[in-house]
Amino acid sequence: MQSFVLCPFMVVVLDKTKKSGSNIITVSYTGVLSECPPIIGLAIRPSRYSHQLIREAGEFSLNLPSVSLLEDLDFCGKYSGKKYDKVLLRNIKLEPSEVIRSPIITEAPINLECKIRDILYLSKNGSSHDYFIADIVVFHRAIDFIIEKSQSLITANYDYLQLGKNLGKAFNVCKRKKGG
Ligand SMILES: Cc1cc2nc3c(=O)[nH]c(=O)nc-3n(C[C@H](O)[C@H](O)[C@H](O)COP(=O)(O)O)c2cc1C
Repeated sequence: MQSFVLCPFMVVVLDKTKKSGSNIITVSYTGVLSECPPIIGLAIRPSRYSHQLIREAGEFSLNLPSVSLLEDLDFCGKYSGKKYDKVLLRNIKLEPSEVIRSPIITEAPINLECKIRDILYLSKNGSSHDYFIADIVVFHRAIDFIIEKSQSLITANYDYLQLGKNLGKAFNVCKRKKGG
């Protein structure tokens, strides 16, 4: 699975035990389930500290990091909120959401405010992931966000890669002449 090309996100959830008030987990097993209404899914192992926090809060923010957040993204994917206040340790700037209580990451160019609609308990005895299905209730996008310049990240085979060349618009590149 790790050799898939995936897009990692930083998920912020309320954590009353933390001085910062929040925990962040890095999640790359995500998917769009519906466009209208907008619904997304996240696969999270039951062993993650955030699994229980998200279940309890019933909501979270999903933040698309740019290259400037790379070290923070990796830190939040390596260390657990069981032991650390990742927000404070990495000095990650958060700001209030519009509708949900979990804050959003200021530096991330795209933030989605999400409310849990359903949880699929797919993991057998903690062997793998459970699936959190959530409605996107608010969509924030940095005004100057342009995909070619956004410095978005992907992961493939445990490497982080930066998005590169724009190869053309979907539904349009097929109109090009072969070899042209
Ligand atoms: C690039 C990357 C992607 C990850 N994707 C997932 C994922 O999709 N689901 C998951 O359960 N854990 C994923 N992890 C692992 C968690 O982020 C990691 O175990 C983290 O420490 C859990 O934090 P928590 O214990 O504070 O919840 C990923 C880690 C990295 C570095």
